[in-house]
Amino acid sequence: MQLTRRTFTTGLSTLLAAPAVLAQIEGEHIDTANRHPVPAVQDTETTAQHEARLAWWREARFGMFIHWGLYSIPAGTWNGQQIPGIGEWIMNRASIPVADYKALAQQFNPTGFSAEAIVSLAKNAGMKYIVITSKHHDGFAMFHSKADPFNIVTATPFKRDPLQELAHECRRQGIKLGFYYSQDQDWTAPGGAAYKTGDHQPPTYHWDKAQDGDFATYLRTKAIPQMKELLTQYGEFPAVIWFDTPTKDMTPELAGEIVALLNQHPRLIWNNRLGGGYKGDTETPEQYIPAQGYPGRDWESCMTMNDTWGYKSYDTNFKSTETLVRNLIDIASKGGNYLLNIGPDSHGVVPPAEVERLQQVGQWLAVNGAAIHGTLPTLFGAEAGSFSDTEKDKNGKPKFIPEWKWRSTTTPNRIYLSLFEWPADGVFRLPEISRVPRTITGAHLLADPARKPLKLSRTGDTLEVHLPPQAPDAIASVVVLETKA
Ligand code: GLC
Repeated sequence: MQLTRRTFTTGLSTLLAAPAVLAQIEGEHIDTANRHPVPAVQDTETTAQHEARLAWWREARFGMFIHWGLYSIPAGTWNGQQIPGIGEWIMNRASIPVADYKALAQQFNPTGFSAEAIVSLAKNAGMKYIVITSKHHDGFAMFHSKADPFNIVTATPFKRDPLQELAHECRRQGIKLGFYYSQDQDWTAPGGAAYKTGDHQPPTYHWDKAQDGDFATYLRTKAIPQMKELLTQYGEFPAVIWFDTPTKDMTPELAGEIVALLNQHPRLIWNNRLGGGYKGDTETPEQYIPAQGYPGRDWESCMTMNDTWGYKSYDTNFKSTETLVRNLIDIASKGGNYLLNIGPDSHGVVPPAEVERLQQVGQWLAVNGAAIHGTLPTLFGAEAGSFSDTEKDKNGKPKFIPEWKWRSTTTPNRIYLSLFEWPADGVFRLPEISRVPRTITGAHLLADPARKPLKLSRTGDTLEVHLPPQAPDAIASVVVLETKA
């Protein structure tokens, strides 16, 4: 009898509780490239288990990042000086003493915060998950933590737990909730790590003696207990843990202590920024879109709408809605997710410029979401651009020159063509059509509720799609090619 996975597991399920054993017996690929002190889920799960665990995340394609914390009070200014750089780094960049920074908690009372408003904003924008900073590098917990009193419930007049309110609202509106946690950098806890800015000196790059201590002790007395709280206090959430800025202090053994905790939550998705040699589930290109994605690897491009993650009162350099929509399409065409950031102010209110853009992105997705959600990457590729024969990038490699004429995404029986430029002669030409492993049976505009067929013709190996004179959308108009294998 052919031993299928089902018969095999039925017969021995009690003995083979660990997927690792099952996977090895069945010869599934197990990534042993990184020998980890504690095997992570990515080391032990079967391919089928991995696909199932990532399925909702891949379908989502679009999520909301939220950077919100005490740094929204100074909002980029300290002692009357505008502090350069991203707003949530103000404590480090301005070398603010621990006691002075911690004193901000006494004035943090963001009564303008509305979980309902933020989750509705995400949902109406077409975002399928939210990742919020539960504790950033400043060490302040935006949740009720018994592990450390420097948190929004214990240390502020606000006394509410915004993560609990978001969890309730995400549950009600059907959106996944994830937590960003700065596991390594912590600028107010003794022993927490710090990346260097300004003239801060090695080996710790601290600027206040109150920051000195033992990293492992910080990890075991604050970070790991708080991660336990985050993993157990919010019902079925978090769906994602978003680690950030690992340092050399995060040894494989210490990272293994965190992995042992993550392994108790087998549906959790976590990124490549834990440290200790663990690569997690997702690559995390920050503020850029990789030229050709990461073939064979899940990835998520995280970006701000202006130039800062945490709120800065004077950063008004917002990207246009056209740029945001085309970034989303470009990322989806390469098989990635777009994690787009909002930075609420010290009252808990989302800047109007961010609200407006998300509403406009949502209007585009309301018509064209089928070309993004649940799609797979392009069958073509050359449409994204090409590598220069002469110009080099900052790493000395051939510079990628993007093209912004069109992108494509696919589903089993459709090819979506998102056109950024509407052909002047009314004909969109798709070259080398014989290389597409599909038969094209028809075409229509995604924005056309009547799905009026578009005329198709061929000249040589080029498919010609005959379009109406007017593009349905100024930012991106989607042509649907109906296909069969
Ligand atoms: C960088 C910054 C951090 C921000 C993160 C978002 O790691 O240090 O402040 O939260 O990018 O990806």
